[in-house]
Amino acid sequence: MPSFKRSYLNFSIFSLGFVIACADVNIGERSNFHGIPQHASRRLLSESAPSWHPAKKRSSTHVFASQADASRESTPPATLSEDTKKILQKVAPDILDFLPIRFEKGMKNPCFLSPSQDGRASELLCLPYFIIAGGFQCGVPDFDKRLHMHPQVPSQYTSRSVWWTNHPKGSSGNFSKYVHGFPNGAKAVKASPETTILGDVSASYASFIMAEHLRLHHTFLSESATCRDQCRAGKAPAESSDKCPPKTTGPKYKFDHCFPEGQAAMAPIDFNVPALISTVYQPAKPPFVVMLLRNPTERLWAAFWTYGQFPGQYGKSNAGFLAYFEEQSAAWDKCVALHDVHTCGLRFETLAPEFEDVFYHGDQLLKGMYSIFVEDWVKWIGRDRVLVMRSEDYYEELGSGSGRPSALIKTWELLSVPPASEELWTGSEGSPVQNEHAKVLEEHGEMPAEIRARVDAFYQPFKADLASILNDSRFLWET
Ligand SMILES: *[C@@H]1O[C@H](CO)[C@@H](O)[C@H](O)[C@H]1NC(C)=O
Ligand SMILES: *[C@@H]1O[C@H](CO)[C@@H](O)[C@H](O)[C@H]1NC(C)=O
Repeated sequence: MPSFKRSYLNFSIFSLGFVIACADVNIGERSNFHGIPQHASRRLLSESAPSWHPAKKRSSTHVFASQADASRESTPPATLSEDTKKILQKVAPDILDFLPIRFEKGMKNPCFLSPSQDGRASELLCLPYFIIAGGFQCGVPDFDKRLHMHPQVPSQYTSRSVWWTNHPKGSSGNFSKYVHGFPNGAKAVKASPETTILGDVSASYASFIMAEHLRLHHTFLSESATCRDQCRAGKAPAESSDKCPPKTTGPKYKFDHCFPEGQAAMAPIDFNVPALISTVYQPAKPPFVVMLLRNPTERLWAAFWTYGQFPGQYGKSNAGFLAYFEEQSAAWDKCVALHDVHTCGLRFETLAPEFEDVFYHGDQLLKGMYSIFVEDWVKWIGRDRVLVMRSEDYYEELGSGSGRPSALIKTWELLSVPPASEELWTGSEGSPVQNEHAKVLEEHGEMPAEIRARVDAFYQPFKADLASILNDSRFLWET
């Protein structure tokens, strides 16, 4: 894969190295646990989903609604539209091979029998019931640890594969590897089908910027790499050979025309991580998706100090942070002068050489623009299955490790597991608190107020959008 060697890729792939994913999926709880009707988000989905999405075609049926009958028949598979098939054929044939999935009935967790090959007995494979989707610098490792203290949310069946966002040629592998990747999970489901649930904890999922979206957008990388290689070798097809730059252009030897070629090879922008997950789970309900999010200003400060390349490039000081923020936010402003916010958020470095040149493609700045991504999560997964909470509340309620954070209680409730027992709470007391943000503050202090005011102002519209999407003013982070 020569494309991995390109500098563009180095950045993208490199940033993946920091990913710690958290995801958990829930299909098929018997009833909507808090009685919320299929509401606004579903309306939004049916009205605004692109024609290729199976939701458009599917008239019926929450297959698992009548799951109380413990029969082991499987559900009728969803019908994939031709458009969806075409997209998957191009970018994810390994997934398409499994679709549509015929889920087993009578299991709380979404599982299915592998297509039987060569007369071999088919094997039970599973997708996650819930996804802890993020975000980075938001407390996911601590939350992950405590969430799995619950006996019905066992850690040993959890995947942390970052699968939905990773490059298919990377270590997360293909779809077969993913559905085999819940260690002993299928066995546990067989033993206790009504209670066993599997999870995926992958903090990269929440903000699926280009570098966290290569599962679907890797074709941009391979197509633009092919285009560049052909130019270099003097082997470009006749219709584009005159667009290859002369070698004498020197170190800034750009291949501007390779951008549109790469873009043309990508999946449609609306076919993103949540859309893919929703498609794969059809006709069952999608997984539950849980996120802890920190004030984006604080998240950026923590990320700057966590990843050595930023102080390395801009300086290990407040002035260095300010220079970093100014450069990255100026590039963002340039992008949104040319494109819409959604496009810039999801595809920043693919849009033109000037954006590819931005240090780490603006990755950390973009990751704090939660509203861009949460809007799509809610649209595809459903408002009632997406739980977003604030890291600040989590840590405040956790105290020094003996508190009982509502984030845990709400998540267990969402997953339809019994409330935590007194023994569980007392047993967990004193378990050391992991807090990446607190460590950064200890080492580097608070962001100076005059810098904070600028970063806050930058993120203000995104916070307002998030508060509106979630109908919760706490996501303005004013308190
Ligand atoms: C999927 O990946 C596994 C290795 O994890 C490999 O053995 C298998 O052949 C791959 N399947 C396809 C269809 O490429
Ligand atoms: C928004 O939240 C308020 C209370 O915080 C509630 O009264 C109202 O019904 C909610 N609106 C929607 C559309 O959910």
